[in-house]
Amino acid sequence: MLSTNTRCTVTVMPDEAEIECSRGDNLLEALHRAEVEIKSLCGGAGTCGSCRVIVESGQARTDDGDVISEGDDPLACRTEVTADLQLHVPEESRRAEGEVSADEPRHVLGTVRPDREVPVDPVCQVTPVKLTPPSLADNTSDFDRTCRALREVTGREAFSASHSVLRGMAGSLRENDWESTALWVDLQTHGELIDLLSPEAAGEAYGLAVDIGTTTVVADLVDLRNGESLGRAGEYNEQQRCGEDVISRINFASQKDNGIQILKEAVTGTINRLIEQLVREAGVCERGIRAVVCAGNTTMIHTLYGLDPNNIRRQPYIPTVGTVPPLRAAEIELNTDPDARVFSLPAVGSFVGGDIVAGALSSRLTEREEMTLLVDIGTNGEIVLAAGGSLLACSASAGPAFEGGGISCGTRAVPGAVERFRIAPGGDDVTYRTIGGQPAVGVCGTGLIDLLDSLLQAGVINRSGRFNTELESDRLREADEGYEYVLVPGDETRDGADLTIETADIRNLIRSKAAIYAGIRMLLTNLALDEDAVGRILIAGGFGTHINLDAAVSIGLFPDIERDRFQFVGNSALRGARQALIDRDSMRDAQELARGMTYLELSADEQAAAFMDEFVAAEFLPHTEMERFPSAAPGDTSAL
Ligand code: FES
Repeated sequence: MLSTNTRCTVTVMPDEAEIECSRGDNLLEALHRAEVEIKSLCGGAGTCGSCRVIVESGQARTDDGDVISEGDDPLACRTEVTADLQLHVPEESRRAEGEVSADEPRHVLGTVRPDREVPVDPVCQVTPVKLTPPSLADNTSDFDRTCRALREVTGREAFSASHSVLRGMAGSLRENDWESTALWVDLQTHGELIDLLSPEAAGEAYGLAVDIGTTTVVADLVDLRNGESLGRAGEYNEQQRCGEDVISRINFASQKDNGIQILKEAVTGTINRLIEQLVREAGVCERGIRAVVCAGNTTMIHTLYGLDPNNIRRQPYIPTVGTVPPLRAAEIELNTDPDARVFSLPAVGSFVGGDIVAGALSSRLTEREEMTLLVDIGTNGEIVLAAGGSLLACSASAGPAFEGGGISCGTRAVPGAVERFRIAPGGDDVTYRTIGGQPAVGVCGTGLIDLLDSLLQAGVINRSGRFNTELESDRLREADEGYEYVLVPGDETRDGADLTIETADIRNLIRSKAAIYAGIRMLLTNLALDEDAVGRILIAGGFGTHINLDAAVSIGLFPDIERDRFQFVGNSALRGARQALIDRDSMRDAQELARGMTYLELSADEQAAAFMDEFVAAEFLPHTEMERFPSAAPGDTSAL
């Protein structure tokens, strides 16, 4: 019997959370409203199967009108609440909790930071000015008088002023006897006055550099007077509840009522929480933040500004903006000085965004004499080749596998995530290491690379990624959909269930690594180069910093070149955003860099067939052309 009451209570176990709903509410949305950490990899499109829940009591119904009752395990995104309901969100449907590490790993700091000191000449300038008081002979307006004084000190011709500055200008100038500390933002075409303070005021000017990733958002609070960092913080991007990757988010924007606004509020909400944390810890006021520089992929930047990202995924893949004009913070509801300007580093194309431009900037790609590849592996593999002064970039759709998405045993790099594997030949003896030494909860991206290589070296899988069914090991067993291999037995995992990997997971991983390698090959072959010509490979992104390089080469993710030619550059996007924030020339350099970067669209007619050939050839461990990987001999298990 369905309840006639229009209000219902959904009880979530094991949290024992009670959610008040109206009849007809979508169950996934209700769970998100109540901040239940449930996966929704496809953003509620009903296609990924990640939001499955188990009904313990009560009733609901599917989108198609079928009744759901006790013992059913419907997709939350396809379920309508119709009555009181008690449900269980199983471990595999839960998003991993855990703090986002905003820190650079130590070896990255050691190898990258000292490259070059960035000068401090920030986008927001603090300039003391002394005005000539007006007289009957000099009746220039207050604003023109201020501009004249600024022109004399800065050499800059044109200035504008925010409305709030204009409103307070007459009083402020007279109260301070025509002396002032002017805060102005360099908009390149002109300077904009955003505050006029008394000459004694400290002229507090802080800036925020933000790396807006599809998965995580990391921000650096910087004192613009001296370029010193006041703190760094990171959080998962709240948009994750709208889908795991950029395509799911774009679908969410177009298919959900108010989808664009929901995405915008999710990302600005994430940034505002980081601001709140950073200013609290630094003991400063959020209104002292006068400039924000963001680096993000093209979809993230569209959603930050509330722009429709739909055309990004439609041929011919044209974004609304590549370079977003700097907007006022109040216009996108960031909790800083409302007149602070928000800059975004320019994108090169729909799938090569400002994050990779920021990475190219901070890695000094254009200044390097040796041929250099910058590889940023996120949900998309963004790759730039710097050769002979030119920059060629592409984006290879790697999918979220290396971030633990779409892999049954995958997880993020949280405590308990397995990050190292060693499997002895024969497949019986598995040793592993988890983050923080906690009971295993899943395998993170770096662990998946190690795992794929270990399975291969131990003879558990063959070079096509198929299980060796001749293997006499209890760990290999038949499951509902083919074979699975037990990585960690249930008595060593957090939820008590065996941690396993299936054939489909291995196929996904191979496809992901094949996409990255094929992207690298496409850049090289377009310039008629071979991998031997590459002097350096820079691996960017939080994921890259812990990779077992030998394993990554052994599975064919990266070219087989000397290992000392690889360099981990950590969060190069955040460093690039910070560099542009504290150095106006770098902001200009970023524009130049984006303009000078050639974007190779791999799905364009002239490239698609060649990319597909490279991709198919790479769908093997390590590659169908084994001679490309001379060091990838079987039988070599990497040390833990
Ligand atoms: Fe429900 Fe993907 S199937 S979120």
